[in-house]
Amino acid sequence: METITISQAPQHVGETVKIGVWLTDKRSSGKIAFLQLRDGSGFFQGIIRKNDVDEATFEAAKHDLHPETSFVVTGEIAEDKRSKFGYEIHINDLEIVGQSDEYPIGNKEHGIDFLLDHRHLWLRSRKPWALMRIRSQVKLSTMEFFDKHGFTQFDAPILTSSAPEGTTELFNVDYFDEDAYLSQSGQLYGEAGAMALGRIYTMGPTFRAEKSKTRRHMTEFWMIEPEMAWCHEEESEEIQEQYVAYLIQDLIDKCPTELEMVGRSVESLKPFTELPYPRITYKEAIEMLQKGGMDVKYGDDFGAPEETFLADQFNKPVFIKNYPRSIKAFYMPTDPEDAQQVICADLLAPEGYGEIIGGSERSYDYEYITSKLEENGLSKEDYGWYDDLRKYGSVPHSGFGMGLERFLSWVTLQDHIRENIPFPRMLNRLRP
Ligand code: 4AD
Ligand code: MG
Repeated sequence: METITISQAPQHVGETVKIGVWLTDKRSSGKIAFLQLRDGSGFFQGIIRKNDVDEATFEAAKHDLHPETSFVVTGEIAEDKRSKFGYEIHINDLEIVGQSDEYPIGNKEHGIDFLLDHRHLWLRSRKPWALMRIRSQVKLSTMEFFDKHGFTQFDAPILTSSAPEGTTELFNVDYFDEDAYLSQSGQLYGEAGAMALGRIYTMGPTFRAEKSKTRRHMTEFWMIEPEMAWCHEEESEEIQEQYVAYLIQDLIDKCPTELEMVGRSVESLKPFTELPYPRITYKEAIEMLQKGGMDVKYGDDFGAPEETFLADQFNKPVFIKNYPRSIKAFYMPTDPEDAQQVICADLLAPEGYGEIIGGSERSYDYEYITSKLEENGLSKEDYGWYDDLRKYGSVPHSGFGMGLERFLSWVTLQDHIRENIPFPRMLNRLRP
């Protein structure tokens, strides 16, 4: 007899098979018990009729099985039109593998702190299951997209001596009596990669010692950071929008059930696959905000209320271009139209989900970069290698970083970004 997974049930209708499962819930009436089952690949229902199994098995199914008990069922696969998954199993044997204690997560409402304390178990529930599947698909689609566009996957180190995005949010590590930091961004290393391989992207965890408690910030989050030699900002923005549209189309095609389980309709995602996305300048954004009665002036950075207001003016993601130099990173080149500004863009998600991508052109001028490093107090010892990239055949190049969980929280409509990573790390959370 074949052992299969729940996801393979459609290919085995009418056959008797074995599946290793966990119980999520059960109900019984008289001579029949309904077991809600999951096996990691999916969820479906198992039906036990008193007449189909021996007395002890039926009694065990009715009384002894706690949620999360693991067992192997043997039975016949049938179609089940009423279930989301479309199939069920008519059980004729059941072999318990691991008994479960009284399971702490039930059908009642639990507070978020309780759920996060039990994250190692909460991951088994339906919504986290769907969210993790969507996350996995987005990483796979990322690799496919960049592969199709001629990018090489490139790994930046996590232990570093540099701070690309400012020195205030660093996690210090004691590195054999030297100071090291957990990487804030793979970008500077990605630039070295682009000079070697043309077009690269990194995908890995990045760290910010964010003291702020917001629903968009974690201390450990994943970033996808493409870096492209011989590329100006305009072309980089085109790649960014194609990438976002590609990810969404792939989710529509490959994860419709998961999207439905998290409450995101496929219909509502479709408009975001249509390009181009609108582009406005930082100055235009300031005007819009002021006209809308918001208290901002030129030079201010945008917080959540400003980002949400701006995003609400459009029904698609919107690029905000060319911010003032004072609020952006040292490596960004001067905007030829206004020397107070730099050539860059942030992509804001619609529906109030904030900045999902930050990107820019990178100055490829040796004098400019060395002077900016100096102004920012960044040492030759730590950044001399970065200068070298401008010394040996420097070329125009651009890149961007997409926050994986920011993107995911938008497409899955999660109020808080912590739902979109297996084990979130935040100001007050290091466990489990
Ligand atoms: O805008 P950021 O700081 O840009 C960079 O790090 C550049 N070096 C990227 C590059 O050009 N290669 O961060 C990029 C993105 C943000 O747009 C946001 O989506 C996400 O990373 N992000 C965070 N996500 C979760 N928690 C945090 N604390 C985040 N900080 C940034
Ligand atoms: Mg940013």
